Amino acid sequence: MNILLLGSGGREHALAWAISQNPKCDRLVAAPGNAGMAEVGECLPLDIMDADAVVAFAAEMAADFVVIGPEAPLAAGVSDALRNAGFLTFGPSQAAAELEASKSFTKAVCDACGAPTAAYGRFDALEPALEYLRGQGAPIVIKADGLAAGKGVTVAMDLATAEDALRDVFDGAFGDAGAAVVIEEFMEGEEASFFVLCNGLSTLPIGTAQDHKRAFDGDEGPNTGGMGAYSPAPILTDALTARVMDEIVTPTLTEMDRRGTPFEGVLYVGLMIKDGAPRLVEYNVRFGDPETQPLMMRLGAQALDAMLACAENRLEETRINWADDHALSVVMAAKGYPGSYAKGSEIELPETGGPQARIFHAGTTISDGKLVAAGGRVLNVTARGETLAEAQARAYELVDRVTWDDGFCRRDIGWRVLKP
Ligand code: AMP
Ligand code: GLY
Repeated sequence: MNILLLGSGGREHALAWAISQNPKCDRLVAAPGNAGMAEVGECLPLDIMDADAVVAFAAEMAADFVVIGPEAPLAAGVSDALRNAGFLTFGPSQAAAELEASKSFTKAVCDACGAPTAAYGRFDALEPALEYLRGQGAPIVIKADGLAAGKGVTVAMDLATAEDALRDVFDGAFGDAGAAVVIEEFMEGEEASFFVLCNGLSTLPIGTAQDHKRAFDGDEGPNTGGMGAYSPAPILTDALTARVMDEIVTPTLTEMDRRGTPFEGVLYVGLMIKDGAPRLVEYNVRFGDPETQPLMMRLGAQALDAMLACAENRLEETRINWADDHALSVVMAAKGYPGSYAKGSEIELPETGGPQARIFHAGTTISDGKLVAAGGRVLNVTARGETLAEAQARAYELVDRVTWDDGFCRRDIGWRVLKP
């Protein structure tokens, strides 16, 4: 098969690696890709937000399957354009991508289908939002309604912080994404994510994970896009995932179908678990980053079969073969991230550690023949093992063999599970 993969991060490198392991894959083109993906396929500079350009290239390469990695092209309708042009595509329609692109859309779907989630109010002006906020008190959560590249959420422990966050949103800190705001009840508990392939009402759960959002050890410091992740998430037992399917995923898919906008693709179910009960924090309509890196390390080649089954509406006849294993990924970031950081510093990578450990590239490029950092999160050092402790030891052993003076990483990924 000729396969086109859209995206350029660590998530897409992990997807590209898994796809390339599958004998069904004859040719893999990653657009725009990165230096790591160039080792498992071809990279092509393409504006993946330009639906016409993507369709034209898919035709030129005679793509048999197109996989869309990030949310932005999904929210922009690139999957609809591909499907309309007759390409088998992995990723939801623009209408179904609203589950990620609009926080208030998801809240309204939860209201309609009874899925448990935080109580909320939605406002499109500052004054009524402030009034509601003062009535609720802190802690409380302020969210720009639209897509804000993971930066539109403030978990405010006091009212002053919450009021500042509201003013920021309405002052335009998040552009169009901040035309409206969702103010949410603060939920306590432990977070975990659950990934489900969906096509209309058919589903296939494909794993669980937990990530570490804070920049520094001990879950201290500023929020980031994620500094590391592991799979599976022990808190998401089989009994709990069955409950999440019954109480949250199936009702949501039924409501989306009822609205005439069935969901097709991977649903990232972000959960808060307290006293054994799950509540929805958020949906994403694509794989998580960095959660996909350990997930793909565990799934390997069968990830392609599962995504194909999803796109061809064959999920009911599809099974995942799970090894009883664990995987963990450590993010190496440029010093300064998530604040300002320099690009262009040189990186020397070791020979990777065999089939049990590999380095996915998140933000790299080749400059003058050398591998250099080209983003905030730069490498995802990922390993698997029979236990999480073994996967962690293997990942850090590989981290220690990377030579990159301008990089840093957390040394405690997995601590919640591994603490004595
Ligand atoms: P979101 O983009 O909606 O996932 O929010 C980003 C992060 O903010 C989540 O991963 C949680 O850690 C936190 N968060 C979001 N909503 C809530 C909530 N209602 N209660 C507590 N924490 C939340
Ligand atoms: N790691 C969180 C996300 O992918 O949204």
